[in-house]
Order: sequence, then structure tokens, then C-alpha cells
Amino acid sequence: MPDLRGVGKTWGFKGGYKLAEQKATTSVLYEETRVFEAPRDLAENSNVMQWMKKKGFKSEREMRAWTGQNFIAFWDEMAKTYADWFEPYAQVLNWQPPYAKWFVGGKINVAYNAVDRHAAGAKKDKVAYIFVPEPVDQPTQKITYADLAKRVNKLANGLKSLGVAKGDRVSIYMPMIPETPIAMLACAKIGAIHSVVFSGFSAGGLNSRVLDAESKVVITTDGFFRRGKPLPLKPNVDEATANTPSVKNVVVVKRAGIDVPMKAGKDVWYHELVAKQSDVCESEKMDAEDRLFILYTSGTTGKPKGIEHVHGGYCVTPAQTLSWVFDIKDSDVWWCTADVGWITGHSYVVYGPLCLGATSMIYEGSPDYPDFSRWFKIINENKVSVLYTAPTAVRMFMKAGDKWPKTHDISCLRLLGSVGEPINPEAWIWYRNNFGAGKLPIMDTWWQTETGCFLVSPLPITPLKPGSPTFPLPGFNVDILDEDANPVPPGSGGNIVSNSPWPSMLRAFFRDEVRYKKEYWSTYWDIRPGTYLAGDKATKDKDGYFTIQGRIDDVLKVAGHRISNAEVESALVSHPKVAEAAVIGKPDEVKGEVIVAFVILKTGIEATEDLKPILAKHVRTVLGPVAYPEVVYFVNDVPKTRSGKIMRRVIKAKALGNPVGDISALANPESVEAIPLIK
Ligand code: PRX
Repeated sequence: MPDLRGVGKTWGFKGGYKLAEQKATTSVLYEETRVFEAPRDLAENSNVMQWMKKKGFKSEREMRAWTGQNFIAFWDEMAKTYADWFEPYAQVLNWQPPYAKWFVGGKINVAYNAVDRHAAGAKKDKVAYIFVPEPVDQPTQKITYADLAKRVNKLANGLKSLGVAKGDRVSIYMPMIPETPIAMLACAKIGAIHSVVFSGFSAGGLNSRVLDAESKVVITTDGFFRRGKPLPLKPNVDEATANTPSVKNVVVVKRAGIDVPMKAGKDVWYHELVAKQSDVCESEKMDAEDRLFILYTSGTTGKPKGIEHVHGGYCVTPAQTLSWVFDIKDSDVWWCTADVGWITGHSYVVYGPLCLGATSMIYEGSPDYPDFSRWFKIINENKVSVLYTAPTAVRMFMKAGDKWPKTHDISCLRLLGSVGEPINPEAWIWYRNNFGAGKLPIMDTWWQTETGCFLVSPLPITPLKPGSPTFPLPGFNVDILDEDANPVPPGSGGNIVSNSPWPSMLRAFFRDEVRYKKEYWSTYWDIRPGTYLAGDKATKDKDGYFTIQGRIDDVLKVAGHRISNAEVESALVSHPKVAEAAVIGKPDEVKGEVIVAFVILKTGIEATEDLKPILAKHVRTVLGPVAYPEVVYFVNDVPKTRSGKIMRRVIKAKALGNPVGDISALANPESVEAIPLIK
């Protein structure tokens, strides 16, 4: 690795986050002592155990350590095992921190790996997706790999007919229906770059993402079903694309049977577009490093970051981690409940399971429609064997009551998973007892939009501790560092980092190189260049088990969804009556956090109770239901540093009744007193 010490200075920054202020090192207050051994049968027959035996590893620890030290050789083997290459690569890794190139010179396409090779082989009649529509009177659909290939090819040809070519961006704004993965795969197939925008974002959220990506086409639906009702979606696209000159066409899937205006020359019905296309389409031979997708995620500023991922890496690590962590066998039915609008859906509803040739569930709607027995019915009827969901869903079921999991026989489940936010030990135990008959292991996987795949996670052979994602996975060198880049000793915590690159890591931010370098690489650059700062605080216990404590930056996790405080604040400030706003997360027993806003009104505007829901609704209109503030408070001032930065940490401490620490450096320390205690 080249010595790049000091390069950070030439970038015009030194240290991304002030670690002292963030208190990088903390001590572990609570230590989990319960340990749950993996069931012997599961461990013995697991995919990872087969590999360990072949390689002669005696223990899990030895295997995890060896693959970390020899990560290049490890990923070389995995790339050859899990992916089919049109042309082999000449070099496994070219690492010029902070830029990694994996499988240099290799030619590949993830759509070929996910669909074509199965459709042309023994798995052609295997079901790729089982789709359960939300309305109970609509039948379940089963899509085989052969069907999927035809549908992807028709849309790929359809996109070509609209002039979409390699490198063009296509925004996908859709609910959870089979056409969503089909749209992603069709883009990948022809080398277009997809940018999926979660359908819970409003026209404003979609607009900023389409503008930034300069998308040529937007794919959407007339509407979608939510709690039994058809709701419109296309009008959001009309509004969002009113000022986006790059958008030439909007392709509309007829899903909800809602009457929507179609603009001649611009809007195209999906079914009409694909009807006239051939169901044969060759996959574009992509360079391993060619961009596959952009996925916007929230960071510390109000502007979402366009995280870029590539074809080569995406053919390898989602599939390999899914195979090892969730032990996917040919007979399994895998259900990752995440929406495809987030990274979990990209990696573990689309690319990972399809590259493995697995069968996956897609469910369109709410877990409690028509009541809380829905998921259990789906599990039972479709013989779901591996379930991967979020702590917020577990806590929601926990609150709804123990009776619901008993409404159906769910003994077909053999393994459980969790992702998106820390799972508290109480929810972990409830999940194991009520979904897992008191015996199924829970794979608590820690990862991010930026990482593309799990980084810290148990394997089906790992002794588990509730609330811990356990250890870095094979092939990764994840650690927890103090502010001087020393690994923290057992019993304390610090910043979670990766000391080495991995194939599905982000490559860049779309058109924002400076921010890419600053956010992930600058903090430890002068001490150890090439250290990836994840942005989470974590602790390690005496046995080396990780526990994730949450973000070091101002990013909220509401029901597992990543939302930046700054984005919600700027939505509030866009209301004509608002002068300034500060947003914090308040702990919530189901959603993990809910959004609380402190608003300073413009001079002369009366602070009335009626105005509060109006402002909350305004945020919903600008950003979408996903960012809805639960409570709004009016204040005259908010604490700020002398440079004008809002001190959300201080506001949060005061509002929650916690010690605020030293506030003498604030420009307006008196403002702290006026922050109300929130219930
Ligand atoms: O804070 C961590 C939390 O989610 C963040 C990443 O959010 P996003 O990019 O939206 O991806 C979510 C799905 C991978 C992380 O920085 N997080 C994710 N998984 C866990 C977690 N926190 C604790 N435990 C997890 N298993």
C-alpha cells in the first residue's frame, strides 16, 4: 500500500469528524452473558462448514482470522466460485486508497449471473420469485427463472427502443412488485445504471434524485395497494419530472388500475412497450468496474449522497455472504422483507438470491393487512425457510402480541435474520421464541448502503449473544478503533472501521469526489490511509463480540430507514413561516427512533397549536411519509457553535433529560435552558 500520509491535508481537510467531541472511546456499561450455541445439525451441514472442512480449518476463529489476513486470495476464490465471467480478470485488486478496483480487466454482467445462466441451465423451471399481492383476493404469482429471463429481456429491449444506452441513468420509483427487480435487471443487462428511489419518498425526494442522476427514463406505476386501498403514484412522477430536462420518457406499469393522465410523447405504458419486444436480449459485456447502480442515501448534509456500486463486486459478495450467513440451499425459500428501494432490497431481494439461483418471496404490502397474521400465513403457505427482517418489524409484532405467530404453523422456518438497526436483547429473545420456536439462530447482520453486503455477522456455526452481530465476516478486516487508530481493548468501544477493501464496497459518490473522500477516508488518513470510517460507534466485549451503538453523525434511523436530520430541517425551513429548525431522534419502542422537530418561526408568525400538524404535513409533502415528524415544538432559539452549526447533540440531551455536558463554547448557551423536556 503506498504511503499517503498527509494527503488529507492536500485535500483541504484534516479529520472528518471531531473524534474528541464525539467521544470515540466509551466503556461498555452492559455486558450480555447469555450465549446460544448453534444447533449441531445446522452447523455441521452448513455451507460455511463444508468450505472450512475442505480447507482444513479447525475452528471458526481461525477461519475468520485467516480469511481476513488473506483477503485478496479469499475474494479471488469467491469470485471464481460464485460468478461466471465472460472474460477472466488479470488482477484481483488494485488498491490506491481510497479507490479500489476489483477483478481488473474481467468482463461480466450481473444480469447474466442473476438470470440468464439459470434460465439456460438446470434451474430454468425453478421459481425465482413468489409474489404475494397485498389484496387478499389476488392470487400469488410464481415466476420461474425462464419466465424472469423473458420478462427482463423484453423490458431491456423496450428500454433500448427508447434510446437508453450503456451508462445512461434510469430512475425506478415503484412499489414491491416483480416489475421492480425486472426493471433493475433490464437496466443492468444493457449496461444502464439504475437509481431506485424508495416509493415512500414524495415528489420532492424523487425530483432531487432524478435531477442529480440526470436520468433519461423514469419507471413507475399508476399506483399501489396500501392496506387494501389503491393509491396513486404516477402523479408524484409528473410533479417530480416537471423540471428535469434529462427525462425523455416515463414508463408506467399498470398495477392499481388507477386512471392517470398520460402525456403523449413522454409517458409510455409498460405493457404496451414490452408487448412488441423480442424476449431475447444479449447481456452487455461489462467491465468489472462499470457502474451498476446509484443508490441515494442520507448523510450529514441535506443533500443525499449518490452511492455508486459496480457489476463485478455485485456478482460476488451479495451471493457469497447470503450463502454463508443464511446457508441458502437449493430447497430453501428465502424471504427478505426489505423494500427494494433500500440497499437491503438491492443486495438481498435482487442480486444476492438471484445470483445463487434461489427462490425468494416478494410481498407487496403491510405486515398487518388485513391483520397481524398476514406474515405467518405467507410463511406457512409458501414454506418460507429463512426469514430476514428488521428489528422495527420484530418490535411491532412483539407489541401486537404473542398470539399472532401462533395463528399459523411456521415450523418451516429454519433460520432468522435481522438488519438495519441495533436489535435490543429483549426483541432478539422474543423473535427467537416466537418466530423461531425458542431455538432458531438469529443472524444479526451489520452493514450499510456503502458496503453492499454484510460485514459483521454471525454464521450458522457461531455461538450467539442477543443483540450482537458477533464478529467481522470471513474476508473482512473490520475493527473498532479509538481516536488514535488503536484497536480498542475488550470492554470498550470506538469507531467501527474497515482496514481493507472488499469487492462490493462503494466506489464513489456520483459526481462528488470531495465528499466521498471526506466522509469515509479522512478521519484516520494521517495515521493510517485507507481506513474506511463507517460512521457507527461500536463496542467489543471481553470475547470480542461487537455491539453496535448507533451513528456518530447526524443520521436518524426511523423504523430502520436512514434519514438525515439536515434533510428534514431543510424541508421544514422550506415552509414560508419557518425561520430555522433543528431535528433530533427520540427513542421509540417500536420504530427505534421517531423524529422530533424544534422550530423557530419567522418574526411576526404566531406559534399556534394548529400550525404544528401543518408543518409536519409539509415535511411529508416535501420528503415523503418516511420523514414525517412525530412531534413539533416551537422555540425561540436553538444551541449553536460560534460558527453557526446547530448542536443537535446538546438539544437531544436536554430534551431527553440527560446531562448536556460542557456548553461553555456555544455561541448562545442560554438557549439550552429553553429546550423543553419531551415526553
Ligand atoms: O447504523 C448502522 C445501521 O444502519 C446503518 C446503515 O444504514 P443503511 O445504509 O440504510 O443500510 C441499512 C441496511 C444495511 C449502519 O451504519 N445498521 C445496519 N445494520 C445494523 C445496524 N445497526 C445495528 N445492527 C445492525 N445489524
